[in-house]
Amino acid sequence: MSKANVKKSNYKDIKIVVTGGAGFIGSNIVDALIKNKYEVHVIDNLSNGKKENINPKAIFHNVDICDLKKIKPIFKGAKYVFHEAALPRVQFSIEHPIEAHDANINGTLNVLLSAKDAGVKRVIYAASSSAYGDQSKLPLIETMSANPKSPYGLQKYVGELYCKLFSQVYGLETVSLRYFNVYGPRNSSEGAYALVIAKFFKLLKEGKPLTITGDGTQTRDYTSVHDIVRANLLAMTSKKVGRGEVLNIGAGRNFSVNQVAKLISGKIVHIAPRLEPHDTLASHALAKKLLGWTPEVKLEEGIEELKSL
Ligand SMILES: NC(=O)c1ccc[n+]([C@@H]2O[C@H](COP(=O)([O-])OP(=O)(O)OC[C@H]3O[C@@H](n4cnc5c(N)ncnc54)[C@H](O)[C@@H]3O)[C@@H](O)[C@H]2O)c1
Repeated sequence: MSKANVKKSNYKDIKIVVTGGAGFIGSNIVDALIKNKYEVHVIDNLSNGKKENINPKAIFHNVDICDLKKIKPIFKGAKYVFHEAALPRVQFSIEHPIEAHDANINGTLNVLLSAKDAGVKRVIYAASSSAYGDQSKLPLIETMSANPKSPYGLQKYVGELYCKLFSQVYGLETVSLRYFNVYGPRNSSEGAYALVIAKFFKLLKEGKPLTITGDGTQTRDYTSVHDIVRANLLAMTSKKVGRGEVLNIGAGRNFSVNQVAKLISGKIVHIAPRLEPHDTLASHALAKKLLGWTPEVKLEEGIEELKSL
């Protein structure tokens, strides 16, 4: 366990734990919390995350969320928990269902138990639009039945159910934010499971053609990490959530993979299709009602930001 030099006097007297704080979304949440002068503890085993993503003002615990004994003491005195740690790739979960189950379900149970036992006020859970799977209608709204199409989608959905159960049975405040295809700074472009925008930028830099699975007509609701971070901070303080609500956090506009490739520009090549839902599109009416959240970053702007990095 390594500790950064934290000058406590500069901080609000509020401790927050962010699991997965070395990862893409978690590290962006950590930066926003540090900016707002919270005392932030990061739990991450660096399986996907990077040490250099971790804000130097955060206190880093290099621990696996599957190790209940080791994570429990870290939650002592914490008021809020952002649970971002997961093995978050659809394809990985299809090939390695047990490893994914351990991190995504057993790890989530450990985080909830630790939070409850420490008297945490609220857990904000990183849920996923993959819980929807294929639906016959768009936009996707929270009242639709979950229909996951991968172990990952199922595991993230079980996490939501656990959150709600902990609110009902133990009185722990929870809220689940179903993120839709998140992109932005620090989005990993590594490995076979990288998400499309980060992967396209990597290929572009390497002078290679952009690889599109299938015919590229499949659409996704791409959501900027800046909007995701804002939703998380609102979910921490909103008085209208805390009883296991599930809220879509998606931009509410969908683009085909072909359109994304065109925005990024570069040559394209089509490869074999994957087993995946054809379309996603979020209704964010509930997030607007309960959090006062609406998306602010348009995909065109988000892609320009990435081009400038
Ligand atoms: N990126 C997206 O588009 C998206 C969409 C929907 C939901 N989500 C969810 O958001 C969260 C963050 O995703 P991300 O894209 O930042 O992924 P990421 O892989 O960049 O971050 C996840 C972090 O969790 C850590 N981690 C994994 N297993 C762990 C374990 N057992 N113990 C401790 N740390 C562990 C990793 O090292 C990594 O730093 C995940 O829960 C994911 O399911 C992401």
